[in-house]
Amino acid sequence: MDQTIIVLDFGSQYTQLIARRVRENKVFSKVYPFSVPFDKVMAEKPKGIIFSGSPANVYGKGAPIPDKRFLHCGVPILGICYGMQLLSHKLGGRVHKSKKREYGFAKLHVSKRESPLFRGIPKTITCWMSHGDKLDRIPQGFERLAYTENAPFAAMGDPARGIYAIQFHAEVVHTELGSRILKNFLVGVCGCRQNWTPKSFIKETVKKIRQQVGHDRVVLGLSGGVDSSVAAVLIHKAIGKKLNCIFVDNGLLRLKEADKVEKTFRGHFKMNLKVVDAEKIFLSRLKGVIDPEKKRKIIGKTFIDVFQKEANRLGKVPFLAQGTLYPDVIESVSYFGGPTSTIKSHHNVGGLPKDMKFKLVEPLKELFKDEVRAVGYALGIDKDIVGRQPFPGPGLAVRILGEVRKDRCDLLRKADWIVIDEIKKAGYYDKVWQSFAVLLPIQSVGVMGDERTYENAVAVRAVTSLDGMTADWAKLPPELLGRISNRIINEVRGINRVCYDISSKPPATIEWE
Ligand code: XMP
Repeated sequence: MDQTIIVLDFGSQYTQLIARRVRENKVFSKVYPFSVPFDKVMAEKPKGIIFSGSPANVYGKGAPIPDKRFLHCGVPILGICYGMQLLSHKLGGRVHKSKKREYGFAKLHVSKRESPLFRGIPKTITCWMSHGDKLDRIPQGFERLAYTENAPFAAMGDPARGIYAIQFHAEVVHTELGSRILKNFLVGVCGCRQNWTPKSFIKETVKKIRQQVGHDRVVLGLSGGVDSSVAAVLIHKAIGKKLNCIFVDNGLLRLKEADKVEKTFRGHFKMNLKVVDAEKIFLSRLKGVIDPEKKRKIIGKTFIDVFQKEANRLGKVPFLAQGTLYPDVIESVSYFGGPTSTIKSHHNVGGLPKDMKFKLVEPLKELFKDEVRAVGYALGIDKDIVGRQPFPGPGLAVRILGEVRKDRCDLLRKADWIVIDEIKKAGYYDKVWQSFAVLLPIQSVGVMGDERTYENAVAVRAVTSLDGMTADWAKLPPELLGRISNRIINEVRGINRVCYDISSKPPATIEWE
C-alpha cells in the first residue's frame, strides 16, 4: 500500500484497536511488535508510526524499547500512553510514578487548540485514561498541548519533527472525538489521503494476485463461510477460471447449505466449483465415536483426505488459497499472559497439513473480519453469505451429543432451520453472535394429542459476543422462544422437548462439545 501507518505494539490490550481506528479513517495500517527490525518498517515507507500503550514502565527492568532510530527517522510519530512516556524518556523529558493512578474518565483541557492534533476539538473534552506513570517534564522542542487535573502534560507535540504524544487513549470510544484526534494525526500531520476503501483494496489485491499467480492455477477449499467465500470471489475476479474451488459436503452441514453454495458460486459467479458428496465417508468414520475431541480429529483428517484426493484430480496446481485473516497472523506482544487474538488450535479443523506442497495465496491476510465483510459486500456477495454467523468446522457433529448418525443429523438440521428462521424473522440474526440448536442424547416423555410420546430433546443456544472468546446468553424475548419451541415440537417429528441454554462463556463454552 502506498499509504501505510505502522502501529508499534508495546503490549497494550488496545493495539489492534488502534490499527482498526486508523483503518476506519480509510488509511491502511499494520501492527508490528516493538522489536521489529527498523529496516523492515522503513521498507514499507510508512507515512506515520504510532507507539501503542503498554502495561510496562519505561524505566522498569525489561521495558519494551524499540530501535532508537525510530525516534529520529523523520517519519511522524504519535505516542499513546506508554508511547508518550517512552518518547519523553528517550528524548530528554521526565517520567515519574504518579501518586495516584489515573483510570477512567477525565476532563481534558486543550491548551493549544491551534495544534494540528487538536484541530476542530473543543476546549474541553472527556477522555479515557489508564496510566500509573506520568510526565512531569516534556523534552526540549515539545510544547504542551493539553492537560488534565491529574496529568500536567496530557498531550505534547513538536511540530518541527512531527512528533506528537497523548497520555489518554484516543482509540477507545470513551474518548470524545478520539477518532477525530487520530484523523488529525493521520491527515493533518502525516498527510495521508484517506483513500483506503473496500474498492481500492479490491483493485490493488486483484493486481497482486495476478502478479503472484501468473498463468498458474489455484485451488481453494470453499466452506461457504464468510472468509473462504470472500477469498474465492476476490481470486476469481483476478484469475477467473484458473481458480478451482472444492466444496466438501461432509454431511454435517445445515439444511440447504450445499445448495446455497452451488447456486451462489457456480450459478451466480460462474466459478469452477466441484462439490464433493462425502457424507458417507465422514459418517462411517464417525460411527460409534462419542468423544468430542476424537470427532474433531476424525473430521479434520477426513477433510484433508477428501480434499487432497480431489485436488490431485486437478493435475498440476501449484497454489492453494486460504481465507486467513489478520488476527491470525498478527504477532502480538503479550505481557503477563494477557489475552491474545488466536483462536483455539482445535478450531483450525479446515486447516491443511504443511507437507502439502502448495504455495499459499492469502488475499485477506491483512484484513479484520468486519473489513472482510465490507469487501464481500463490495464484491456483490449476498448478505446470506457475507452476514453469516460463524459455523464450526466440524459442523453439526459437535452439536449432536453422543454418536453422530444420519438420522440424528437430519433431525437436528430441521430443528436448527427453525431456530434460524424465527431468529431472522424477529430481526435478531445480526444482533446475536451465534444461534443454533443442539441435539441432546436423551429422550423424555410428552403427550401429543392423546398419545404418550418418548422422544428427543433439543437445546436452543443463542449468544451475544464480540469475538467468541467470551459470550453471554442472549436475552431473547419469551414470545420468540415460545414460537421456536412450538414450531420445533409441531414440525419436527422426533422432538418433543425444547430447552433454552442460559449459560455464559466462561464457564460454559458456546458449542456444547
Ligand atoms: P467455544 O465452543 O469454544 O467456541 O466457546 C468459540 C467459537 O469457536 C467456534 N468453534 C469452532 N470452530 N472448529 C471451528 O472452526 C471447531 O472445532 C470449533 N469449536 C468451536 C464456535 O462455533 C464459536 O464461534
